[in-house]
Amino acid sequence: MSQTIDRVAVITGGSLGIGEAISTQMLGLGWEVHILARRASGYVHADHDGCRTHDVDVRDLVAVKETADAIASTSGRVDALVLCAGVGYPTPLHSVSRAQYDELFDTNVAGSVFSTQAFTPLLRDGHAVITFVSSIAGRRGFSDWSLYCASKHALEGFAASMRDELRPRRIRVTSIQPGSVDTPSYDHLRPEEKTEFMDPKSIAELAVAAIQLPRQACVETLFVNNAVGDL
Ligand SMILES: NC(=O)c1ccc[n+]([C@@H]2O[C@H](COP(=O)([O-])OP(=O)(O)OC[C@H]3O[C@@H](n4cnc5c(N)ncnc54)[C@H](OP(=O)(O)O)[C@@H]3O)[C@@H](O)[C@H]2O)c1
Repeated sequence: MSQTIDRVAVITGGSLGIGEAISTQMLGLGWEVHILARRASGYVHADHDGCRTHDVDVRDLVAVKETADAIASTSGRVDALVLCAGVGYPTPLHSVSRAQYDELFDTNVAGSVFSTQAFTPLLRDGHAVITFVSSIAGRRGFSDWSLYCASKHALEGFAASMRDELRPRRIRVTSIQPGSVDTPSYDHLRPEEKTEFMDPKSIAELAVAAIQLPRQACVETLFVNNAVGDL
């Protein structure tokens, strides 16, 4: 991949896991990277010259909009928007609660919808890319994971609609659908339970390659499954 100069990225959930891997690769390529997360300042390379952290909860729509306004005033336009902030855990039907529903949908769906609304006016017409970090759970259902799957299916519908809605501005929209990835969200598993999980760097390499493609090419959907099949 070639060095990129004067490019600005906004990455929600860019402080840990898949988002951290994307932030780190883009910083290494010379991008200015704005990370939004509740503890964004804890990002491992927060002191990198090109890194700006914003401690924001994506469920707080006012704070997201204020952050977008602040970034607009300091950095101007944005070339890449990566929506990666998300949560996931099992919710067997008998134990589903309204609190779980609200947390999963407010973070995975509303957080992405309203971050997109806040940042899309900043995106450069003609070549900018929006990347939704969806999931294999946005393609199929999994027993005991119904709410997470429902939230990622909703995200898929939103992403597909944005692809059409933003085409007149020549803004490209990518949905990435990873299988199981070894991130802090799976810290509760024993190492031997994660031997077939993917490295977040693998997902980041593909995400960044799609972002950096020439403006004529749009990776619409990127399904990256585990080599052993669905986990
Ligand atoms: N790991 C997998 O196997 C896998 C597979 C497919 C898709 N995904 C998707 O990939 C994305 C990242 O997952 P991950 O496994 O990398 O998770 P992770 O390691 O737990 O990281 C989640 C990131 O999102 C941020 N975040 C969570 N809730 C937030 C909120 N309310 N406001 C702002 N930021 C928030 C976290 O920072 P703070 O906690 O500081 O806020 C962190 O930066 C999620 O959308 C997930 O659904 C993961």
